[in-house]
Amino acid sequence: KEKGLKDYFAEDFPMGVAVSPASLEGKSKELILAEYNSLTPENVMKMGVIHPKKDEFNWAPADKIVAFAQENGLKVRGHALVWHQQTGDWIFKDDKGNDVSREVLLDRMKAHIDSVVGRYKGKIYAWDVVNEAIDDNPQNFLRNSKWLEIIGDDFLTKAFEFAHAADPNAKLFYNDYNIIIPEKRDRVLKLIDKLKAEGAPINGIGIQGHWSVFNPSEEELQQALKMYTETGLDVQITELDVSLYKWEKEQRERRPGDSDEFTEERKLAQIEAYQKFFKVFREYRDKLTGITFWNIADRYSWLDHYPVEGRKNYPLLFDENYQRKQVYDSVIKFS
Ligand code: XIL
Repeated sequence: KEKGLKDYFAEDFPMGVAVSPASLEGKSKELILAEYNSLTPENVMKMGVIHPKKDEFNWAPADKIVAFAQENGLKVRGHALVWHQQTGDWIFKDDKGNDVSREVLLDRMKAHIDSVVGRYKGKIYAWDVVNEAIDDNPQNFLRNSKWLEIIGDDFLTKAFEFAHAADPNAKLFYNDYNIIIPEKRDRVLKLIDKLKAEGAPINGIGIQGHWSVFNPSEEELQQALKMYTETGLDVQITELDVSLYKWEKEQRERRPGDSDEFTEERKLAQIEAYQKFFKVFREYRDKLTGITFWNIADRYSWLDHYPVEGRKNYPLLFDENYQRKQVYDSVIKFS
């Protein structure tokens, strides 16, 4: 049998991928089984999907992914318990549409975490407990959200406590994006110190890794991994993809004349970027405990829809027909 990513990196870390229930069939299923050994549900464990109303759970899609992982001996990372997005508004509101009290929201958060973590106890080895809680503006520390507004800044510690109580063996992560950038990195480190001081049962830092052919630089990545691993926590790359475009938050539409062709020049730039990243991962192979790609192959990436709807991206190691791209060979050289 031909070797896949998971075999090349078997001595280093699990190689994961974000999946939907629909991707567990046909050619994408074959690719998943050939190349990866860990799954993250891309959307179906988010609160808005799995717990759309107070007394209503939508288990079937998540159950399908967990069952598939069990049948095929794959690990599962749970994603994500507490987030400011893809979260139903019901959790913050009473019957009259007013914000609930801190006590009520804590009760509901606990009930949510108990149900979801409890259901998959022993089957999900790591959970993104809190996702993206740090503000993009360097002047601020935590992002303004309903969680922060109603509960206060100990909402993170509470979430970790509830998750730990629901499955004491699961590894519990704080997960965020753009956290290689020094000013955000330093606030992540500050948050980790705060969580530790409050006694939060946190085990890991998840670096999303939505990167591009432009950044981060090798030095920034090395420095961030050094500082994150020095906290003594597990460190994982949880949502890796390498966009062809500069990350511009305000850009929501294609600019006139913009092309989204996967040109030779872009191909080479992407190979260089992936090599740069995997070279650093290799330096940290004893410390990193997982790498997960955000989507299976270029046939579908969330970046085809975000931040610019309908702009094709080619951010992964496999092409639109689920075949290995040239960049694949460059990556496995660093295993
Ligand atoms: C994305 C999914 O890939 C999309 O399908 C969905 O429409 C929006 O969310 N950071 C995260 C992920 O933590 O949950 C996001 O996933 C991508 C950014």
